[in-house]
Amino acid sequence: MTEDGLRRRVSYLRVSLTDRCNLRCRYCMPNTGIRFFPKDSLLDLEELKRLLKVFRDMGMTKIRLTGGEPLLRPELEEILSEIIRLGIEDVSLTTNGVLLSHRVQSLVAAGLKRVNISLDTFQAERFHKITGMAALDRVLRGIWDTVDAGLEPVKINMVVMREWNLDEVEEFALFAKRAPVEVRFLELMPTANNFEGTAGADPDSFVSADEIKMRIERVVTLGAEEPCSGVAKVFPIEEGLGKIGFISPVSNHFCGSCNRIRLTARGALKTCLHGPDSADLRAALQGGADDTELKQIIRDALTIKPDEHFIRPDHYVSGNLRMSQVGG
Ligand code: GTP
Ligand code: 5AD
Ligand code: SF4
Repeated sequence: MTEDGLRRRVSYLRVSLTDRCNLRCRYCMPNTGIRFFPKDSLLDLEELKRLLKVFRDMGMTKIRLTGGEPLLRPELEEILSEIIRLGIEDVSLTTNGVLLSHRVQSLVAAGLKRVNISLDTFQAERFHKITGMAALDRVLRGIWDTVDAGLEPVKINMVVMREWNLDEVEEFALFAKRAPVEVRFLELMPTANNFEGTAGADPDSFVSADEIKMRIERVVTLGAEEPCSGVAKVFPIEEGLGKIGFISPVSNHFCGSCNRIRLTARGALKTCLHGPDSADLRAALQGGADDTELKQIIRDALTIKPDEHFIRPDHYVSGNLRMSQVGG
């Protein structure tokens, strides 16, 4: 078992497999001027396997693969199989869904248990404007194929932005009522490289989870909140097939019970989403560190994992978070 300096138990590892993405969601990546990590600076498959084993030995019981877009990584199935081989059963993926449809079967065969899919609108033109690609149909197909393949739960992440999609939250809630999916409304977080011209922070676009909840309760009746098992507050829908969740990193952050650490595609350890890199594990690997030394580096970094992040509705400023390089 591994704990941080505040005795929070750390058991959830989020692994970014690439900083590249086939979309350019406006809250995540700018449209121009992006410089991706050079390919030879990324962890290769062998390095990744080595680190996954070290993290398994340290007590990580849940691994989420993220990006950029993780489906752009050709060895994704092999990585999933390796995680299963290590005995970690809770292995999941956060994806934009564009490339999901034709790959669901091979992902399931490799051991994938569940998927979180980003979707911010049901309107084709709006989807194009928010993401830079006319791909709404492909994402919807990906969602249904995932449901049909029996992955459970299928979670849909909607990042709510006042001028872009707040008027669709009721429709998303009704979608969760008629489909067996968990729709989660995410508060928009400021980042270092989105929303050109606003330095990554656009307080006018921010909508609080409370405001979203008030709106959707006009069209669905929520049951009692489920016991908390992650960053979302989750509610069943009366007479509904799916559920609704709220993720409120800005208005009501969940740092006090944080159980997460992150590994970037370049092999940096991040002990906090909004904090700086905490250690360069790839450099340590390449310098010949053995497993015991790698574990010590990770433990040392955890002793100074931040207590909490600094973003609040009345302090809506971007730090150094480049979301596409960390994977949320
Ligand atoms: P589950 O395993 O299904 O609970 O997944 P998850 O909610 O941890 O993962 P997902 O990738 O779907 O993330 C949903 C949202 O929560 C994204 O906007 C993330 O950036 C945000 N999030 C996840 N972990 C953290 C965290 O530690 N801190 C903050 N501030 N936001 C987080
Ligand atoms: N604020 C909130 N959520 C974000 N995501 C990406 N950027 C932001 C942001 N600025 C979401 C994606 C994905 C998840 C990993 O994080 O939509 O679903
Ligand atoms: Fe944990 Fe940092 Fe996220 Fe807070 S912001 S929940 S401390 S990773």
